[in-house]
Amino acid sequence: MSQETGTTMLNLLQRPRRNRKHPAIRAFVRETTLAPEHLIYPLFVHAGEDDVPIASMPGCARLSRRGLLAEVEKARAVGVDIIALFPAVAEALKAPDGREAWNPNGLVPDTIKALKDRWPDLVIVTDVALDPYNSDGHDGIVAPDGRILNDETVEALCNQALCQARAGADVVAPSDMMDGRVQALREALDGEGFIDVSILAYTAKYASGFYGPFRDALDSAPKSGDKKTYQMDPANAREALREAELDEVEGADILMVKPAGPYLDILAALRRSTSLPLAAYQVSGEYAMLKAACERGWLDEKRVVLESLLGIRRAGADVILTYFARQAAEWLVASSRR
Ligand code: PBG
Repeated sequence: MSQETGTTMLNLLQRPRRNRKHPAIRAFVRETTLAPEHLIYPLFVHAGEDDVPIASMPGCARLSRRGLLAEVEKARAVGVDIIALFPAVAEALKAPDGREAWNPNGLVPDTIKALKDRWPDLVIVTDVALDPYNSDGHDGIVAPDGRILNDETVEALCNQALCQARAGADVVAPSDMMDGRVQALREALDGEGFIDVSILAYTAKYASGFYGPFRDALDSAPKSGDKKTYQMDPANAREALREAELDEVEGADILMVKPAGPYLDILAALRRSTSLPLAAYQVSGEYAMLKAACERGWLDEKRVVLESLLGIRRAGADVILTYFARQAAEWLVASSRR
């Protein structure tokens, strides 16, 4: 006789719902966790005195030095101890070869030093790519005929990464997608004794429309052409495995997939094919979509943000770069105190 209604009872040996019947049971059958240590917080900085909100990324701003320190303080209070810095550079400092990228007194090295003065144990990730500094808005150096020069760019990236390492960066993250840059960076870093500086390689970075708000944030949209000769075609998955093999033999410490949400299959495939840790980048457009729907009251922000991050973890990411990092960690800490 059925306990439920006293009338009908299906003859089932397997009832998966039994493992969902009580919060304590649901807790031990849970396969994936999400905690503040799984999050890296990308932050935009600029040389100005004020924080300047980014219209297409509500809740994010180009931060002044003061704004940055305040935001990092709040993030650390909830257990987010890794940040990634993205500089918005004045148009006047941009040049075709992006030389401001290795100015030892530039915005990024200055910012690293200020952060390390205050928090020597903060983990700082820096982006290695020329787009914030390049007057053409590309990640690499643009030849007169419009080609993006690979090998010349790799040399510039080594200068940039060394400048970041000398200032105190813990992890350098090449997001440029030039060939051979991981090995070149490893050799350049080791050559100066920076054997402990890690390389977080943007292994499978797709030519995605989801970077739009980020390019607004940094005024870094390409002035002409697009990034399809270096970033990957969204149609390709096998190519990500090939990029991963190369980055692995070239000395990467962590491999990254970007964007995250629309590329969970790539993340899952890499999880099966490499033993290296995996990162995923929930990019500006993914953030903007969720924010926009939540602002309209169409989605419940806390629920969908945590669900989106858990999904990225479930697909195989050890760590997630997300603009929600501080907010998500606040929610996670509050619910663990319950
Ligand atoms: C460029 C870079 C981009 C992002 C991180 N590094 C944009 C691009 O390739 O055009 C995008 C991040 C985001 O959209 O949140 N080196």
